[in-house]
Amino acid sequence: MFGSNKISGTGIGLRTPHIQQILTEQPDIPWLEILADNHLCTGGITPAHLHAIRERYPVTMHCVSMSLGATDPIDWDYMAQIKRVANTYDISWISDHICFTSAGNRHAHDLLPLPYTEEALTNLIERTKQVQDYLGRRILLENATNYIEFNHSTLTEIEFISELAKQADCDLLFDVNNVYVNQQNHGIDAVNIINQLPLERIKEIHLAGFDDRGDYLLDAHNNKVADPVWQLYQQLQQRKPGIPTQIEWDNDLPDLATLMGEAAKAQKIMNQAVNGGEK
Ligand SMILES: [Fe+2]
Repeated sequence: MFGSNKISGTGIGLRTPHIQQILTEQPDIPWLEILADNHLCTGGITPAHLHAIRERYPVTMHCVSMSLGATDPIDWDYMAQIKRVANTYDISWISDHICFTSAGNRHAHDLLPLPYTEEALTNLIERTKQVQDYLGRRILLENATNYIEFNHSTLTEIEFISELAKQADCDLLFDVNNVYVNQQNHGIDAVNIINQLPLERIKEIHLAGFDDRGDYLLDAHNNKVADPVWQLYQQLQQRKPGIPTQIEWDNDLPDLATLMGEAAKAQKIMNQAVNGGEK
């Protein structure tokens, strides 16, 4: 019924204003990522559109509401919807974030940072396992941007991420823009983190643009990818050539050609890494 669900090369995020153009022109895009929460909401991608998209393109699904770092009960109604969409459309993989989005049964509608403690890690691992068991597949969890740091953290971010992947047996989505934003806001060493990543677990990379607010950077997904982020991306591709990559752009959305131009730039860097540095 659907085409291949194999993910390779550099894709883009599927955004509602581009759907009709993509369906009409069928541009050469290796794969598309849908925002699960948009698809589940009225006014998002319709089932008919998603069906048509899947006939032509492999699709991954990106979520923001699993709230796996929270201590609220897991929202199994939400997980049931994710499972239904993933199975109905033969979605290649499902991702969410290393964060929490709810507390006291209230939704923050934001990705809130976790303290890097053994307690938070154990909780996240346990909930990730439960969700993977329910979905019948591994999920990918993404490093988030943090605008505060916790004094009582006892682990580094890379220790937290690595232990999560190992103990939960999950995969990772590494957002290069997020690590750069954290570097500029908190003084962490992004290159050091990239050099310590458990590469066998990295199934996808995100690239995005940030908003420079003067005294801090905001992960706003409203710009082209910045030069230092391209450099970090190149370093990661050289460590493990060919990791599938997606351009995330949500605010001040440009035309499709601009988005595809960013993906082409990422593809060129990926190709150079795959070919051992040849131009
Ligand atoms: Fe991301």
